[in-house]
Amino acid sequence: MSKICLTLTENRLEDCYKVINTKNQQVDLFELRVDFLSPIDQLMLGEFKSEYPVILTFRKECDGGLYNGDENYRIQILNMGIKSGNFDYVDLEADLDSPLLDEIAKKNCVKIIRSFHDFNGVPKNLAKKLIDCKRSEDEIPKAAVMINTTEDLLEFYREALTISSENKILLGMGSFGFNTRILAAKIGSMLTFCSKEGISAAPGHVSPDVLNNVYGFKNIDSDTKIMGIIGNPVMHTKSPDIHNRGYITQGINAVYVPFETDNLELFLKIADLLNIVGFSVTVPFKTDIIPLINNVTESVKMIGACNTVTRVGMTWIGENTDYVGFIRPLIKSYGDLKDKKVTIIGAGGSTKAAIYALKKEGANVIVVNRTLTKAADIATLYSVPYGPLSSDSIKLIEENSDIIIQTTNVGMHPLEDIDPLSFYSFSGKEFLYDIIYTPAVTKFLERGKHAGCNILNGMDMLKEQAYRQYKLFTGLDYPVI
Ligand code: ATR
Repeated sequence: MSKICLTLTENRLEDCYKVINTKNQQVDLFELRVDFLSPIDQLMLGEFKSEYPVILTFRKECDGGLYNGDENYRIQILNMGIKSGNFDYVDLEADLDSPLLDEIAKKNCVKIIRSFHDFNGVPKNLAKKLIDCKRSEDEIPKAAVMINTTEDLLEFYREALTISSENKILLGMGSFGFNTRILAAKIGSMLTFCSKEGISAAPGHVSPDVLNNVYGFKNIDSDTKIMGIIGNPVMHTKSPDIHNRGYITQGINAVYVPFETDNLELFLKIADLLNIVGFSVTVPFKTDIIPLINNVTESVKMIGACNTVTRVGMTWIGENTDYVGFIRPLIKSYGDLKDKKVTIIGAGGSTKAAIYALKKEGANVIVVNRTLTKAADIATLYSVPYGPLSSDSIKLIEENSDIIIQTTNVGMHPLEDIDPLSFYSFSGKEFLYDIIYTPAVTKFLERGKHAGCNILNGMDMLKEQAYRQYKLFTGLDYPVI
């Protein structure tokens, strides 16, 4: 099991005490960052006191900190802190050449964390470099390296797993490396760092609340099964909240983490390396993943998109839970869909899942899309009428307006101010369904609601498709929470 360390980013020591007092139940130790303190508070470091374990760190700008002053001053302050006897650990960079500090730390029983940072990427022979940076056996080596690509992440895990039993601190920074912070226990990292809510002291820090309550960090050990989600971008996804809440509630030793990805083949190598049990697939990989997996279900073939991949032995099976996730909330809110006339905005992967599901229920569907050729392709595939996403389609939409469904990303950040159907006036009788869930009410839904339409957003769809995935990953029904 790894520990949680909260990095204190306060300007005043008295504010550090306040954070320590409010967060000590959620974390195991704190890191006092002298470079965040005011000059006066830096000079008062000798008086700092805490009944909880604290790491003393004074980080230079080139290592990701704020300090860019005189090196002798930095050494003097570290010296004062170490001698105060109030710190359990001191973080001394591998390039800091001060035998005196090493000696004083040892004399005062302050454990040395010997650290290096690489903001460019994963250095060659990371594992060896990490172990070699120790100056004596009792030091704890630490490396924080930037993960810029899936290739970097693969290299990171390959190296990390060769030294998983060594006492160390090891983490990948940035959104590609975020999963390494959560999976600290799997790579044998003594701790993971976090920041208080609303602050990120380093690229990829989340709050203790997210570590504990979203990821169940304290339950993760070497036996924990790993599930995940691949996408790009992926950090905004709410899927970890849903899946992990299920595992925590049912006491399943598993964790679901985001993997920002730019190379599917290399991600599959990571999945083998970490023995990932199953993963969700989101934009833009739902189609590209299909040729890379061994077997796909009929629905994946029909929709041409796969959002769920599960491991069976050494093979992968691709499924589509989007179409069930899409249709269930609609039936629940609207009722029977047989012979209903439905307009769908969009011609992407989500659109295909929606048409597949609607046709299964006996609805009559038409498609409107910005790029007419894409609407035509989809229309040919499913034998449905189509038109442009413009005022030229007003009549077509009017004739198919029992339900109007929005399946594009228009309405979601950074297009949150756009209503893709702004050229169309609602009568108030249409039922509107937008598969976007953030924001909860898009411009399209807002305008419809104003006109008197009943509306539905994508939150229930997200949940429903996740519940199906949960069953595929764990074999269990999602708990009632
Ligand atoms: P997904 O798999 O999530 O459906 P996709 O396959 O990339 O994603 O499809 C995105 C859909 O959003 C497409 O229908 C796209 O329209 P085009 O076919 O014209 O590209 C639509 N879309 C994206 N940005 C849009 C915009 N600014 N205005 C209108 N439609 C847009």
